[in-house]
Amino acid sequence: MNNLYIIGFMGSGKTSLASELDKISENKKINVDALIEKKLGMSISEIFAIHGEAFFRKHEHEILSEISKHDNQIVDCGGGLPLTPENRKLIKASGRCIYLKVSPNAVLQRLKSDKSRPLLKNKKSISIKEISLMLDKRVQIYESIADISIETDNFTTKEIAEKLIPYL
Ligand code: S3P
Repeated sequence: MNNLYIIGFMGSGKTSLASELDKISENKKINVDALIEKKLGMSISEIFAIHGEAFFRKHEHEILSEISKHDNQIVDCGGGLPLTPENRKLIKASGRCIYLKVSPNAVLQRLKSDKSRPLLKNKKSISIKEISLMLDKRVQIYESIADISIETDNFTTKEIAEKLIPYL
């Protein structure tokens, strides 16, 4: 199957890249978090606050299972989606995977006033140390399923999209 899954930490630019690729590709753009919000009629923050992370992850897995049955999609994945072996299996079985690499400092700059990420917003202020710890735990997992890994820190979304043209 020919799906293109975009993975990476919060703030790595997955959604912006999906929008940029959408302009130059025939494939359909899908945002997993937006589908979860639509299905449950609540924002991601509300889902975490009212039902907790496990409930969110269950729906995230269900939506991914459905997406992975279809072809020719650009799939913008939430940062935690590849963390379970079940989800990684679905991704590998139904397409290729682009991993957007980002430094803790770039995440901090991009998300310091963001209120929509429940895993970061419950802290009074996000510290570089907390981001680094979380990122360190995830990097190996992201790398383990990446077909293409791309640095994002010093590049515009357009530049990143251009590098990906051969893979579309
Ligand atoms: C999460 C990332 C978020 C969203 C949820 C959990 C994570 O998506 O799915 O808040 O565990 O990293 P983005 O990566 O698009 O921010």
